[in-house]
Amino acid sequence: MLHAIQSKISVLKSELDYKVALWNHEKNLPTLESGDNLISEALKKEGVYITSLAELALPSTAQLLSAANSQLSSLVSPRYIDKGYKLPQIYTVADLPEFSNWGIEERLQKIIENYIGLPIAFHGVHLRKDFPNEQQLQTLLWHKDAEDRRMIKVIIYLNDVTKEHGPFEYVPLPRNFLERLRNYQIDYELKKTNYLGINDDKFSKIIPKSAWKSCPGKAGTVIFVDPRNVLHHGTVRREERSTLFFVYTANSPKRPELCTQYNDETFAKPNQQLTANGIG
Ligand SMILES: [Fe+2]
Repeated sequence: MLHAIQSKISVLKSELDYKVALWNHEKNLPTLESGDNLISEALKKEGVYITSLAELALPSTAQLLSAANSQLSSLVSPRYIDKGYKLPQIYTVADLPEFSNWGIEERLQKIIENYIGLPIAFHGVHLRKDFPNEQQLQTLLWHKDAEDRRMIKVIIYLNDVTKEHGPFEYVPLPRNFLERLRNYQIDYELKKTNYLGINDDKFSKIIPKSAWKSCPGKAGTVIFVDPRNVLHHGTVRREERSTLFFVYTANSPKRPELCTQYNDETFAKPNQQLTANGIG
């Protein structure tokens, strides 16, 4: 009992410290050019903003694309299948300057800091290839990520993504009482799954399909998303889909242990392809 009270107090204190830190940092937030401000404001309202590499026009994009295409050409078919489900091939490419230089582009970091509201940490980059699967499992289930209170993943499509390729899909942040209520219901259902996720069938009984937003797009599409606060998933696909995921949180995230996977040995690095995912 005493332990439960102590742990509740510690949670409350950490949330209070977070609010104070947000408040203290507000005056130091970088100012953004109007187009970039649009991204940050859309993230606050909707939780997602979709643009393209061409529109963002960050100086190191050409090097990023060339490195991504060269790494992609060495990715092979899935080597690990779990109960009939083909797991994605994931490579941690944060150590390669072509990827990390893009991830620390000043304009990009300013947009993300402006949204997160605190000094940020860039945790790394995954290059991943997702394979056709008929079952809705793993990240194809509706879920929320858990690394921090607010976080950003920047997803880049490396091939054209149609319905067949399993585009990213999400539900915008709730805007009224009813939507908030539905979100709480989903949070409750997620807890019951131990946060593994909910399938379309169950999800649609609480949040109707009309509220889901699918994100097909050409190669070079860039999706900014706060996957902690936005319900999301990848959809069942018949074609392969290649993407990059750049990951950012506040500089002292709530769950630092979940952030290391974007730069450590959890997934293969380009020079260790024979032991991809430690399961090669
Ligand atoms: Fe996710």
